[in-house]
Amino acid sequence: MHIAVVGTGYVGLVTGACFADLGHEVVLVDNNEERIAALRNGEVPIHERFLPELLARHRGERIKFSGDLQAATRASAAVFIAVGTPPTESGDADMSYVESVAREISGGVDGYKVVVEKSTVPVYTSQWIRTIIMRNGADPSHFDVASNPEFLREGTAVTDFLYPDRIVVGVESERGAEVMRQIYGPLTSGWYYGRGETIPRPAASSAKTTPRLIITSTKSAELIKHASNAFLAMKISFINAVASICESVGANVEQVCDGIGTDSRIGPRFMSPGIGYGGSCFPKDLLAFRAVAKESGYDFRLLEEVIRINEDQRRRFLRKVRSVLWTFRGKRLAVLGLAFKGGTDDIRESPAVLLVEELLREGCRVCAYDPAAMERAKAVLKSGVEFASDAYEAATGADALLILTEWEEFATLDLERLRTLVKYPIVLDGRNLYDPAVMVEHGFSYYSVGRPAALTEELPGTRSQKKERA
Ligand code: UDX
Repeated sequence: MHIAVVGTGYVGLVTGACFADLGHEVVLVDNNEERIAALRNGEVPIHERFLPELLARHRGERIKFSGDLQAATRASAAVFIAVGTPPTESGDADMSYVESVAREISGGVDGYKVVVEKSTVPVYTSQWIRTIIMRNGADPSHFDVASNPEFLREGTAVTDFLYPDRIVVGVESERGAEVMRQIYGPLTSGWYYGRGETIPRPAASSAKTTPRLIITSTKSAELIKHASNAFLAMKISFINAVASICESVGANVEQVCDGIGTDSRIGPRFMSPGIGYGGSCFPKDLLAFRAVAKESGYDFRLLEEVIRINEDQRRRFLRKVRSVLWTFRGKRLAVLGLAFKGGTDDIRESPAVLLVEELLREGCRVCAYDPAAMERAKAVLKSGVEFASDAYEAATGADALLILTEWEEFATLDLERLRTLVKYPIVLDGRNLYDPAVMVEHGFSYYSVGRPAALTEELPGTRSQKKERA
């Protein structure tokens, strides 16, 4: 099938590359000429596992790049819109990019096509896209608009696409539904999984069988995306709130999570407490969903609370750092992690970056290391931060070491070596990557989220766990 994908950001690139791997002919369209030139040159503008392999495999063959949306539309049976929908001041999604893409698509609708919204959008967007395409002269019988929300996580987006739990398609006509069935046929029929040279199935994938294609109305599909992300964010805020209670009463959130998560109605995933969620989706989508609800006449106060708990989580961690260091001014802190989560170079709404900014305001000196996000972070954290070339260099001479992103490599540090490098053996872990008992064995005082501190020294107002055990 010939498919155009508009927008070469995270979603567009991954979607285009994966469609090519399913056997489709893909043209990736962007109005940013520099980006198109770079992609044609073989550059991969984002850090995403398996994306370089897929682009290299199909570039110039089943993947072409273009700046001409109308020509791409004419050549395609389906046009996927994957452009940005950034938040406005009021939290609504800014739909102007989607609108201008729809306007341009209109000029290329010369026969039946399905225009598919892939960006996260408020309910009614597909109806607006239809109106805009018609307003600009396209014959209404020549196209349908479908909503096909993505559930891609950065860092695992390629495998999320190829091994999904489900595929949601909102569409109002059988003809449009049939086009979408064909596009996803290689996955829903299992053909892709039986083929050689596929991207390997992730170990944690719950999709042991072929994914189900769920066909809904366009409005339902639009709501499914917002409601899914809001629910996941709520799960994180819920466990973060429980972690705070654990800290107050001396319980261990890991044990609590184990007890809650084994209830099959709840499940163990998305239950890791920490310094809160960030990224390009959850913060923006929660605000947008709240705005959508408000517009529809429903005051979704639960979402406000989810957001409040998330912000409070960062403040609580900062208070914890202060309670350990006593004063901030002039202290040298090693920071491991700047990305909003492990496995990505994305720092949008990163709780790690927000915390570093706060520490700088308080007068700390920060030496940071992140395996992928340092270039992006340098553009934001202009002064007061030194960037190290690895975790050990960052730790050298540090008054305390802070773990702010759940990178796998931060969970397997050489603790003996680390101990010899830091000025004081104090670790504050905002992602619960270590067993507190192991940290104490290696001579560290260790503070994490929702678990009792494991101390090698006694602080004013606390009693060390070690001493209590003794
Ligand atoms: C999310 C959704 O998962 C995806 O379906 C949607 O399409 C886009 O938004 P992403 O933003 O890439 O994906 O990251 P995700 O892995 O969901 O993590 C989001 C944030 O939550 C990160 O900051 C992460 O550190 C945090 N998180 C996640 C937790 O704090 N605890 C958890 O248990 C899980």
